[in-house]
Amino acid sequence: MADANGMTDLKQGQAHSARIYDYFLGGKDNYAADRAAAAQIEQAIPNVRVVARENREFMNRAVGYLGEQGIRQFVDIGTGIPTAPNLHQVAQETARDARVVYVDNDPIVLAHARALLTGTPEGRTQYIEADVTEPAKILAAPQLRDTVDFAEPVALSLIALCHFVPGEQMYDIIDELLAPLVPGSFLVMTHLTADLDPETVQGTVRAYQASGIKMEARTYDGVARFFSGLQLIEPGIVPIGRWYPDGAAPDLTAPGVVPLPVSDSATAPKPPAAGYAAVGRKK
Ligand SMILES: C[S@@+](CC[C@H](N)C(=O)[O-])C[C@H]1O[C@@H](n2cnc3c(N)ncnc32)[C@H](O)[C@@H]1O
Repeated sequence: MADANGMTDLKQGQAHSARIYDYFLGGKDNYAADRAAAAQIEQAIPNVRVVARENREFMNRAVGYLGEQGIRQFVDIGTGIPTAPNLHQVAQETARDARVVYVDNDPIVLAHARALLTGTPEGRTQYIEADVTEPAKILAAPQLRDTVDFAEPVALSLIALCHFVPGEQMYDIIDELLAPLVPGSFLVMTHLTADLDPETVQGTVRAYQASGIKMEARTYDGVARFFSGLQLIEPGIVPIGRWYPDGAAPDLTAPGVVPLPVSDSATAPKPPAAGYAAVGRKK
């Protein structure tokens, strides 16, 4: 939010999930409070940087897959600080006319939004500053209404976001966001879970909470509930690295697309299974 002088309050003294994640991805848009929180989180989950990259690589594969399914409209909530390739670059790699609406509540993501609004001339990208807990505001935003054709399918992505909104309300939010989308639309998600490596992930949740960031690691059933009524795409709800591990990857050598460091070399540390990934199709 801008103050009376038009200055954005970046709340630098307070750790924020977008900037902690930026730090784990090797970005520069983070402050001392974020790095202090990141150090605590890294103690709980030493391979967290690998997990962050793995999460990003899932986004690449899932968006590439959706493009191949003919999806041309994406609403990405919990966008994050720009990290090449951004979602619109991956989507427009498959179809130059793909349209992407980004949504995030962090003022620093807003400050960098220009880097997200650089799509192809045939496509469109837009940015909405909003909190996911205000779905009605997101759905009514002119940036969304002017960009998305609600008569056509939409991919709604919330990648590494829903665990920051604990409790029941997140289910109602997803239902509200999916309601106006036509059959053939998709829900795309990654979500922290303690099912697979309980000690590591419970420690991670405690470290985020100690930094003032709310978090809930949901179980398999808790994640599956987001997809109730949807058709789960194979391979279903699986550890992030196992969602289409070899398929649907876009061409990351395209001009303007800087690939993330590859994490699958023989020497790369094996990431703990800290999250689930899933893609569902509206029937
Ligand atoms: C871990 S990052 C994930 C970024 C990106 N989706 C990815 O997976 O690479 C989480 C993002 O969600 C955003 N976020 C957290 N809580 C949010 C909320 N209540 N409403 C909107 N965005 C939120 C953060 O600002 C951050 O950009």
